[in-house]
Parts: sequence; C-alpha cells; structure tokens
Amino acid sequence: MSTWPDLASRSEAPELMDDLAIGGSELEEALRQLRRINQLLIGAWPLREGVDRLWRWAGQPAELSILDVGAGSGDVNRPLLRWADRHGIDLQITLMDINPETCAEAADYYLDEPRVQVEQGDVLNLPANYADIVTASLFVHHFPNTQLPTAFTRMLQASRIGLVVNDLHRHAFAWAFIWGATRLLSRNRMIRHDGPLSVRRGFRGSDFERLRATPGMGRLRYAWRPFFRYLVVVPRYERRFA
Ligand SMILES: C[S@@+](CC[C@H](N)C(=O)[O-])C[C@H]1O[C@@H](n2cnc3c(N)ncnc32)[C@H](O)[C@@H]1O
Repeated sequence: MSTWPDLASRSEAPELMDDLAIGGSELEEALRQLRRINQLLIGAWPLREGVDRLWRWAGQPAELSILDVGAGSGDVNRPLLRWADRHGIDLQITLMDINPETCAEAADYYLDEPRVQVEQGDVLNLPANYADIVTASLFVHHFPNTQLPTAFTRMLQASRIGLVVNDLHRHAFAWAFIWGATRLLSRNRMIRHDGPLSVRRGFRGSDFERLRATPGMGRLRYAWRPFFRYLVVVPRYERRFA
C-alpha cells in the first residue's frame, strides 16, 4: 500500500490532469472514468442543492445562466438540467475548462443538448458578471492555498447571484477508499495518481474558515455532505437575500 499520507495540511503536489501535455486517449479515458465516479458517488448532489438554494434566495427567476468552471466533461450538470425542467426554468449552462481537449470532449458529450455551451478559458481570467451562478465541482482543490482567495474572488465576481463549490473532504477514510477503488477499478495513470491526491489536496472546515477572512468572502457558508464532500455557497450580495 502507498505510504499513509500526512493529511494535516493540504498537499501541493501537482495533479497529472493539470499537465496540458498529457492528452489523447489517456485523457479521454480519465474523463470517462471521472464521469463514472461522479455517477457512483452522486457527485452532482451537493451542486444541485447549492444551485437550488441560490435560485430560491434570488426569488426563483424563470431564466437562469450557470457558468461551470473547471468543468471537465461537465457531466454533473445533467441533473441540473432535469432540475430546471422540473421547475420550468429556462436554464443556459456554459462549461469552461482550460484544456482544449477537455473542451472538445465536453462538446461531444453535450452534442444533443442546445442548453449547454462549451468555452475554453482560465478561471483566473473570468470577466465580471459573466453568469447568474458560477459553479465549481471537484475543481478548487486544484489551487494551492496561496491562490485560493484569488480563484474564489474571481469566481464570485463572475457571478450575479453567487458561487457554488462542491469539493472533497481531506479525510483518511476518503483517501483510503479512493486509493483502493482506483487501484481496483482503473488502470488509467491519471485516475490512479490524481484520485487519492485530490483528497490530499481537499479541504477541512478550517480551510474554509480561513478563506472566509478574505475580503468579500464574509458571506461564505460551508457544510459537509455525504461521501466526504463539502458544499460551499457564497451569495454575491447580502441585500438580495435578506
Ligand atoms: C478534476 S477535473 C473536474 C471535472 C468536473 N468538474 C467534475 O466534477 O468531474 C478539474 C478540471 O479543471 C480544469 N482546470 C484546471 N485548471 C483550470 C483553470 N485555471 N481554469 C479552468 N479550468 C481549469 C482541468 O483541465 C480539469 O478538467
């Protein structure tokens, strides 16, 4: 078994998925397996809860735009489309990823869904007020502690209603489970390397408390969700939701 990791603080080791030189069939397979993992661990659940909460706070608008950053193939948005159908919401989703190959995979995945657009881009260059709600699923753990305040600030400023983050709890059980499951079920180098590392790069409540001290992040709320997730919701303006 791999050496038991020190989970006291967030790892800063790089993930293979952030190496834009790695692509082709290896990346395609990793994205396919990530979709499967999201499905098995109900990865979209906290995301939908956070979006629903912000939508209600904003007065249940009939039209809603979502920007999903670090989107990968964007599969966690499928339940959001069904949620929009149930509530009669005219929903438009933009998937944004820094990797052009990943964007192509996402465009292919949503070929028959006109409500979903794909755009290549870097979260650190997001324009202000880009969409009603900005979402980030299994994405913010890609940033080291020094860059997290900037990434959160950019995402919040890109939203008109608020920000929803869905990411991993840095917990020994989660690490051991993901380490074992990825060795048992996958031969993909990225999945085997990045899966357990993502947990080591994940979060504890104290990380979000520190983030809340960043100027403009005082409205940040976080909650633990099943399967070792954290749901983070940051409304853009206090008065809208008073
Ligand atoms: C672990 S994947 C998460 C995919 C998806 N959101 C999910 O829930 O399965 C993280 C994604 O973030 C993308 N990424 C990394 N840095 C980025 C940046 N600065 N701006 C936009 N996307 C980025 C990577 O290319 C990768 O596709």
